[in-house]
Amino acid sequence: METKVIKIDRKNIRKEDLAEAGEILRSGGLVAFPTETVYGLGGDGLNPEASKKIYAAKGRPSDNPLIVHIADVKDIEKLALEIPELAWKLAEKFWPGPMTMILKKGDAVPKTTTGGLDTVAIRLPSDEIARTLIRESGCFIAAPSANSSGRPSPTKAEHVIEDLSGKIDMIIDGGSCDIGLESSIIDLSGEKPLILRPGFITQEDFETVAKGVEYDKAVIAKTPDKNIVAKAPGMKYRHYAPKGSITIVEGEATDVARYINEKVSESEKAGVRTAVICSDENKDRYLCKNIYDLGSRKHEIDITSALFDVLRQLDTDGIGVIFAESFDELRLSQAIMNRLRKAAGYNTVKV
Ligand code: TXA
Ligand code: MG
Repeated sequence: METKVIKIDRKNIRKEDLAEAGEILRSGGLVAFPTETVYGLGGDGLNPEASKKIYAAKGRPSDNPLIVHIADVKDIEKLALEIPELAWKLAEKFWPGPMTMILKKGDAVPKTTTGGLDTVAIRLPSDEIARTLIRESGCFIAAPSANSSGRPSPTKAEHVIEDLSGKIDMIIDGGSCDIGLESSIIDLSGEKPLILRPGFITQEDFETVAKGVEYDKAVIAKTPDKNIVAKAPGMKYRHYAPKGSITIVEGEATDVARYINEKVSESEKAGVRTAVICSDENKDRYLCKNIYDLGSRKHEIDITSALFDVLRQLDTDGIGVIFAESFDELRLSQAIMNRLRKAAGYNTVKV
């Protein structure tokens, strides 16, 4: 299959330019599109054949449900049942934006879309291209992140092309994603609201609307515990890991640098391409040929938006051994460290 790539100018989003993409979606095809979090691989969420194509293109297990994207808040009534008051409050506060809500599934949503579950994940993105596409297509767009299963989520059209070219009908290039980490998922289908995936909207943010919101323990764990399985099916899979091995090093900045420099030197002497992932603040502390600076800790969004690109770049650059600083003091620490720990296979040392 030939994949058509179209560029959309964010400053001048015209409905006509998304007409063909809308037609593809209506006829059961697949279109990758930008959102404020990561690129999504979209198909008609109410068409089981389209959902099946999504799983196939990504190589994704079919028990891992898709998020359905809407453009108007009231549309949750078309997709969900027994909608609690809290859902409307959260929607008012955090939509459009990087929040996904899990609610009881309505009959219109096929179980292929929800991975066989009786609940449905719904998100109203703030990205204008995404919302224009949803409206133009007239569909509720089921969209997982537009990467091959197991790879880091795509934050640029180039990443989508790398993973899915030849497997889907169209890719809409809208430039880089602002946030760069997937949406925060909050489950409202149980007794208590539970955060199934940490993202840009944090526990403290949620608590401004409802008290007693907690993280699913499995997604903030520093080491994996076989007895605690993540509640979101997708959170239990291996994810994000580059081909090289990552070690996260925790401690005071000077101790971390001393430890990493020693290890880098050993590894380089052994002839292995070695890299350091760090923040702007510390980059001059490292003696290493390959420094991947994520940005300043004072601009956390720079760090979140750079992380997946760097994880992909490590493979492109053929890096075998990687040392990474920890980011556990930041507002977005849960979101960042959840991804970094997975990428590192939870390999962490304290110095
Ligand atoms: O930011 C995002 O959420 C992006 C953009 C494209 O919107 N999408 C995204 O989708 O990250 P995906 O499929 O890569 O991740 C969806 C996560 C998976 O971990 C999945 O298991 C979980 O949401 N999920 C979906 N429906 C669920 C449900 N009914 N119950 C529990 N978890 C669910
Ligand atoms: Mg994903």
